[in-house]
Amino acid sequence: MSPDIRIESFDHRLAPPHAPLIRRVEAARSAAERALPNGLQRPPAAVAGILVERSKWLAQFARVGEGPDAPVVGFKLGYAERSTRFYSWLGGVDPDFRRRGIARQLMVDQHRWCTAEGFELIETSTTNRFRAMLLLNLRMGFDVVGTRAGEHALNILLAKSLKPRPGITGVL
Ligand SMILES: CC(C)(COP(=O)(O)OP(=O)(O)OC[C@H]1O[C@@H](n2cnc3c(N)ncnc32)[C@H](O)[C@@H]1OP(=O)(O)O)[C@@H](O)C(=O)NCCC(=O)NCCS
Repeated sequence: MSPDIRIESFDHRLAPPHAPLIRRVEAARSAAERALPNGLQRPPAAVAGILVERSKWLAQFARVGEGPDAPVVGFKLGYAERSTRFYSWLGGVDPDFRRRGIARQLMVDQHRWCTAEGFELIETSTTNRFRAMLLLNLRMGFDVVGTRAGEHALNILLAKSLKPRPGITGVL
């Protein structure tokens, strides 16, 4: 990842009213609209609300340049499903900043944080349409664990165990 890009993270330790989180989600809106067909799907405060109602959550933002107005070009949001299971919910990278290792770095940092927080499994889902994300997930050690019929496409369910598995290297 180039040195002008840095990752800023917030987690459940952030005190209410969570203003810095809402500000960053707002700043991520443009990247989300460019990365995902429906953008963030809801207003920034509602996105933040989904995170902060969980016992643990992590929000990561890749920003270009310095200063409070440095634009967000990539993001990754996830939360605890149960005490040992983390759901990696939503993420994307602005098309102008792709293939620079931003999504991989966000994922590496997320997995490190999940391990430190005591999670044993990370779950996520995607569709064939999001092929780059599917490939990245597989390369980062996720297994396909199921499928579910969605409204518009088949959802591909993926999981990665954070417990070491003998003989399985994780990253391919
Ligand atoms: C998926 C996405 C986040 C990847 O972001 P990125 O910052 O470009 O990814 P990285 O540069 O970190 O790529 C890491 C690895 O992922 C894989 N990868 C990423 N983009 C890929 C592509 N278009 N085709 C094939 N493999 C790809 C490669 O293995 C890549 O490693 P390499 O560059 O050394 O070959 C980005 O393409 C995106 O925002 N897509 C749309 C949003 C999305 O799919 N969100 C998930 C919805 S469920």
